[in-house]
Amino acid sequence: MTAERVEPGEAREIAETLAARLVDPVGVFAAPGRVNLIGEHTDYNAGLCLPIALPHATYAAVRRRDDGVLSVASAQQEDRFEAVLAEVSPGSVDGWASYVAGVAWALRDAGHVLPGMDLVVDGRVPLGSGLSSSAALICSAALAMCAAAGIDPDRQALVAATMRAESEVAGAPTGGLDQTAALLGEEGHALLIDFRDHTTRTVPWQPGDAGLELLVVDTRASHSHADGGYGSRREECEAAARELDVPSLREATATDLDRLGDGRLRRRARHVVTEVQRVADTVSALDRGDWTRVGELFTASHASMRDDFEISCAELDVVVDTALAHGALGARMTGGGFGGSAIALVPTERAGEVTARVAAAFADHGWNAPGVLPAPASAGAWQVR
Ligand code: GLA
Repeated sequence: MTAERVEPGEAREIAETLAARLVDPVGVFAAPGRVNLIGEHTDYNAGLCLPIALPHATYAAVRRRDDGVLSVASAQQEDRFEAVLAEVSPGSVDGWASYVAGVAWALRDAGHVLPGMDLVVDGRVPLGSGLSSSAALICSAALAMCAAAGIDPDRQALVAATMRAESEVAGAPTGGLDQTAALLGEEGHALLIDFRDHTTRTVPWQPGDAGLELLVVDTRASHSHADGGYGSRREECEAAARELDVPSLREATATDLDRLGDGRLRRRARHVVTEVQRVADTVSALDRGDWTRVGELFTASHASMRDDFEISCAELDVVVDTALAHGALGARMTGGGFGGSAIALVPTERAGEVTARVAAAFADHGWNAPGVLPAPASAGAWQVR
């Protein structure tokens, strides 16, 4: 099992190293990955989500250049991306650089004037873990570009620009949860996001005070949003909303579900309708300090994703079942699904045993060892230097 944590001192070191690669940088900016506590596949249904920002972040250093060129290098990639800013548009870039170039396009499309820029990025959010390394990259680049352009960014407007970058240029039809958490997350708090009107409110999230710990288990099983499963779930939700004649599944009720027959669309819609209610119930339970109920809601959410939305996989189910069998109050997969990570809410004194049991179960199945990350609720995107 691995534990990865970026301490504040390490963040400064990463920033110094990046800044040293640029002569006269404007600054270095960081944006975190996220763990969604509950509220999965609800964002694009105008529903509720409850993420926390992670201590793991992507760092972006920037300096201006005067030839209108955007150049991006990454500590994790061998190739450097270069293009004339004015020529970047949907369809003109692919791969990892499309996330960064996409932000430049979205900011320019929103009417901002950007100078040419050199960016150097270093991603410290585990890749492919369902912890939103892509949003961390997009959001750190967005802050860096705004600084280079002298724009004082309104965070809500940045959420909109970074969402367009991901869906229109990087080609991943995601719903805004990740960027909102990366830009608006707060230390010691979860962020309740209402996607009906994109409003947010912070909710204290300090399981340690109740003798609990949130374990994030990276199954290291692969997933990808750009291919099939995510997009088809989104289409099915839209089809269900059309059939019910509501603008989004947020407006559907449990009774409406009877009008969807008893097939796949009904199960998809049932997940969304019940999941939105579970987010509201989780927030009420947190307000009362009822952690047992929070755990039950997590586990019910997992069952709904496994059986109704059908986005879990064997590795995620094994993490959840093993954690529950060894003392977790609740457990669920988190993020888009089809692999990635699961979370478990465990009494602190059982964290070691749950971790060991999950590792043993993975070994029994002949799977790669999972990773376990500490997940204190951390700050949203910030300027490091
Ligand atoms: C991915 C997407 C988000 C959200 C989640 C599921 O992380 O990027 O927009 O839809 O899946 O909750």
